[in-house]
Amino acid sequence: MTGRICGTGSYVPARIVENDELANLVDTNDAWIRERTGIARRHLAENETTSYMAAEAAKRALAQSDIPAEDVDLILVATSTPENVFPCTACEVQREIHAEHAAGFDLNAACSGFLFALQTAQAYIQAGICRTVLVIGVDWSDRSTCILFGDGAGAVVLRESKGGLFVQAAHSDGAKGDVLTGCSRHRKNWDHPDEAKAAYIQMDGQSVFKFAVRRVPEIVEELLEKARIQKEEISYFFLHQANRRIIEAAAKRTGVDISRFPMNLQEYGNTSAASIPILLDEWNKKGLLKKGDKLVLAGFGAGLSWAGSLLEW
Ligand code: UT7
Repeated sequence: MTGRICGTGSYVPARIVENDELANLVDTNDAWIRERTGIARRHLAENETTSYMAAEAAKRALAQSDIPAEDVDLILVATSTPENVFPCTACEVQREIHAEHAAGFDLNAACSGFLFALQTAQAYIQAGICRTVLVIGVDWSDRSTCILFGDGAGAVVLRESKGGLFVQAAHSDGAKGDVLTGCSRHRKNWDHPDEAKAAYIQMDGQSVFKFAVRRVPEIVEELLEKARIQKEEISYFFLHQANRRIIEAAAKRTGVDISRFPMNLQEYGNTSAASIPILLDEWNKKGLLKKGDKLVLAGFGAGLSWAGSLLEW
């Protein structure tokens, strides 16, 4: 048995923040942000919580799949920004969507989180433990990382099916973890002026950039080799939406035309673990994915971590 995606859904907050608005807050400008990242605007959570966005994306994915919530066996939420340490966001989603028969837990692998969760879901289905799994990626980022990041949630429903294709690879490099760190809200001392000023996310942008441009083509190659599939047979490469230049460089190194690398980061910025499922949902809703299409999904980010899956739509 293989888990096959049979529904997608996403939720982004209504509030849109244009680059120009950020220029009023920090020393930046629209031209720089567009040129260096490809981002034009992003959505910002005002009252929406991580669990609210996750539950909305989940409801939409279930509605699209025509699978009732009570059929869901497992809910996996990939997020670096849960409201609480416990109960986990997955249990809050379970309550909201009335998936009474589902177990749930959260995973944190930063921007690679959706891929790690998708692979965990697949393993549960292949082991015969579950038949239907809801996989959700969520981001609810700090205002101080406003240039790159945006808020949102994306979800997919995975249903067991005979046959089908799912190849996966995942890696971590903890030794380089300090180039991208996020401190816990609970650990931060807001009364201390220096600490309060310090960004929630600390990032050596260029190191992350170089890491992504190197590791993404490598993992794409690894997936193609494992699946014994040529890159020409892949309809689309859905990469984590961090920076347009990273995606362009990865496409070039992979030797595939950029038109097969969908992008929507101009509208949403980097929504961390949510970026791939939001993009998948957009492509699905536009009717751009045909049954039998072979897709590569690849995420990368803090950890450092990177993960990819090659699957059949
Ligand atoms: O999910 C994974 C999360 N992280 C990432 O994917 C991040 C990957 N890295 C990046 O996307 C890029 O490294 C950034 C977008 C963060 C930065 O772009 P860059 O091309 O690496 O810029 P840079 O740090 O080399 O800075 C170039 C110039 C500098 O000015 P000088 O020294 O050339 O005069 C910076 O001071 O741009 C300046 N700069 C800015 N200017 C306006 C840096 N940030 C900004 C800004 N607005 N926000």
